[in-house]
Amino acid sequence: MSLTRRTPCGTVRTEQVGSDVDLYGWVHRRRDLGGLIFIDLRDRSGIVQVKFDPVHAQAHAAGGGLRSESVIHVRGPVRVRPPGTENKELSTGAVEVEAHAVDLLNRAQPPPFAVNEDGAVDEQLRLRYRYLDLRRSRMARNLQLRHRMTKAIRDFLDDQGFVEIETPVLIRSTPEGARDYLVPSRLKPGHVYALAQSPQLYKQLLMVAGMDRYFQIVRCYRDEDQRADRQPEFTQLDLEMSFVGEDDVLDVIERCFAHIWKQVLNVDVPTPIRRITHAEALRRYGVDKPDLRYGLEIEELSAIFATTEFKIFRQALDSGGVVRGIRIPRNVGGKEIEALTEVARAEGAKGLAFWHREPNGWRSPITKFFSDGELTGLAQATGAQPDDVVVAVADRAEVAAAALGSVRKAAAGPLGLIKDGNFEFVWVTEFPLFERSKETGEVTAAHHPFTSPRPEDLPLLDSEPLRVRARAYDLVLNGTELGSGSIRIHDPEMQQRVFNGLGISREDAERKFGFLLNAFRYGAPPHGGFAYGLDRVVMLAAGEETIREVIAFPKNQQAEEVMTDAPAPADPKQLRELGLQLMPRPPQAR
Ligand code: AMO
Ligand code: AMP
Repeated sequence: MSLTRRTPCGTVRTEQVGSDVDLYGWVHRRRDLGGLIFIDLRDRSGIVQVKFDPVHAQAHAAGGGLRSESVIHVRGPVRVRPPGTENKELSTGAVEVEAHAVDLLNRAQPPPFAVNEDGAVDEQLRLRYRYLDLRRSRMARNLQLRHRMTKAIRDFLDDQGFVEIETPVLIRSTPEGARDYLVPSRLKPGHVYALAQSPQLYKQLLMVAGMDRYFQIVRCYRDEDQRADRQPEFTQLDLEMSFVGEDDVLDVIERCFAHIWKQVLNVDVPTPIRRITHAEALRRYGVDKPDLRYGLEIEELSAIFATTEFKIFRQALDSGGVVRGIRIPRNVGGKEIEALTEVARAEGAKGLAFWHREPNGWRSPITKFFSDGELTGLAQATGAQPDDVVVAVADRAEVAAAALGSVRKAAAGPLGLIKDGNFEFVWVTEFPLFERSKETGEVTAAHHPFTSPRPEDLPLLDSEPLRVRARAYDLVLNGTELGSGSIRIHDPEMQQRVFNGLGISREDAERKFGFLLNAFRYGAPPHGGFAYGLDRVVMLAAGEETIREVIAFPKNQQAEEVMTDAPAPADPKQLRELGLQLMPRPPQAR
C-alpha cells in the first residue's frame, strides 16, 4: 500500500486514460451482467466505476465475490467509457478503470442499513452505527461543509487581527443560565469543577490582559433538555474585542457571515444586516427570534376595538390587555383555523378570533358582535383582501405576542410562504437587562450578569430594574437564534450594581466573582463580544433540520451517545477514589 501511488476515486479523469491507477475504497454498488461485472468504488472524494472483464480471470473471479461496503484495492488502467455509457451524474462519469488486480482488504458484513443511498433510516440505528452513517453522501457532505466553514471563519478572523486562544474546560461554575456538568475533584475531596458553559469570563479577562481581539472555536457544555438545535456539548465561535461599541462588534460578525456564506455557499449576504429592537420584534413577530422569510406581521388592533361591546375583547382591554391580529393572505378553512387555534391555546391564549374577508364585508361567527366602524377599521388596519382571513387574540400583551408568534410560524409552512434557500439574517438589539424567571419568579440576567446596561436607562436600575435595557444583541437567521453578545461592564462598581439587581450581595459577589471584580480594579479596557453556535450555523447552511446532522458523533434526545453507550454505570473503584457515593434518584428527578 502506498499513499503516493493512490488515486482518490473521485478524481479519475480522461487525462489519465491509458495509465494505471491504484484505487482504494469501499464497494458502493455491484452490477453483475453475466460476463462483465461493474463495481462502483467509493472513497471520500467520490465514486468511480471499475470494470471486471473475464479476460482478466483472476481479477474477474475476485470481483464476483465482492460484497457491498467491503474495502478493496484495485489496480488497472483508466479507459474511456464506450459511447452512450457515460454517467453525467458522476465527476468520473466519462471513464472507468479496468481491474487487472484486486486485493480484498476487509470483507464487510451486510450493513444494518443501506449505505449507498441517503434514504430515511431510524435515527437510533444511524447513531449506533454512526461510522456507517457518516459514509453516506449527505453526512459526508455535511462534515466537509462544516470543515470549510470553520476554515473560512479562522481565515477571516486571522485576517482581522484576532488571536485564537484556548481557555480551560474544567472551571469554576460561570452563570450562563443552564445547568452545569460537574466534575468531582480527586485531589480536593468534596470539591467540583464545572465544565465550561462558555468561555465568558476568561475572554473578558483576556481583554484585561491586553489581548485586544480574541477568538476561539470552542466546545461548550450545558446540561439542558435536548432539542433539535441543542446538544449537551456544542461548539461556539466565541469572540471578544477591546475598545469597541455595539456597531464594531456587529460589523465584524456581519462581515464574518458574509465571508463564510460567499466562500462556502457562494451566496451574497447583503450588509449591513437589518436591525430590530427587542420590543419591536415582540410586537411585530411575537418572538425575540423572528423569521423574516415571510410577512404575516402582527397588527396592533386595540385602538380599533377600544369601545367594543364584544365581551371577550372588552374584558381583555379593560384589564390592560391588547387585541392583536394577523392577516393571512389565503382562504384558510375551518380545519386549518382549528389547528391554529390549538397553537394559540398552547401559548396560553383563550381562543383565536377569525374573520373571512369577502367582497362586501366579513364572514365570521362573531361578526354580529361588532359595529360597522370596527369592521371597517379591521379592514383598513389589516389591508385584508377578499379571500384573506384575519385572526386575532385578545389577552395580556405577552400572551397575545406569544400566541400570535406561534400562529405566524405555524401558518407560514403550510401556506407555502417559505422559500427554500432564503437566508434572512436580522439583529435583535436592546434586549432587557433583567427578566423574571418563569419557573422561580426571580429576577435573572436576560443575557448574563456581565452585560452592560444602556447608559440612558441607568436611572431605572434601582427603581424599575425590569425596564432597563441592555447593550445586548442577538443574531437571528430564519427564526433560529444563531448567537448572542453584549458590551460588557468593565467597572467594578457598575458590576456590583448589576449584581445587586440580581440579588447577589457584595460578599457573595466577592466570593464568587472576586477574581473578575479584582481584575476590573487593575486597568480594564471597555470591551464587548459575541458568540454564535457553530452547529446551528452549519445546520442552516446545510439545509438540515437538526444540529445532530452536522455533528459527527452527537448525543440523542436523552443525551446518550448510543454507539459507545455513554453515559455508563459508574465504576465503584472510581467512585471510591473520588470519595463519592451514589444515592437512589430522588423521585422528582425522574
Ligand atoms: P449564549 O448562551 O446565548 O451566549 O450562547 C451563544 C450561542 O450558542 C449556541 N448554543 C447552543 N447550541 C447548541 N446546543 C446548545 N445547548 C446551545 N446553547 C447555546 C446558540 C447561542 O446563540 N458567553 C455568551 C456569549 C457572549 O456574550 O459573548 C454565550 O454563551 O447558537
Ligand atoms: P366563545 O364565546 O368562547 O365561543 O368564543 C367566541 C370566539 O372568540 C371563538 O372563535 C373563540 O376562539 C374566540 N376567542 C375566545 N377567546 C378569545 C381571545 N382571548 N382572543 C381572541 N379570540 C378569542
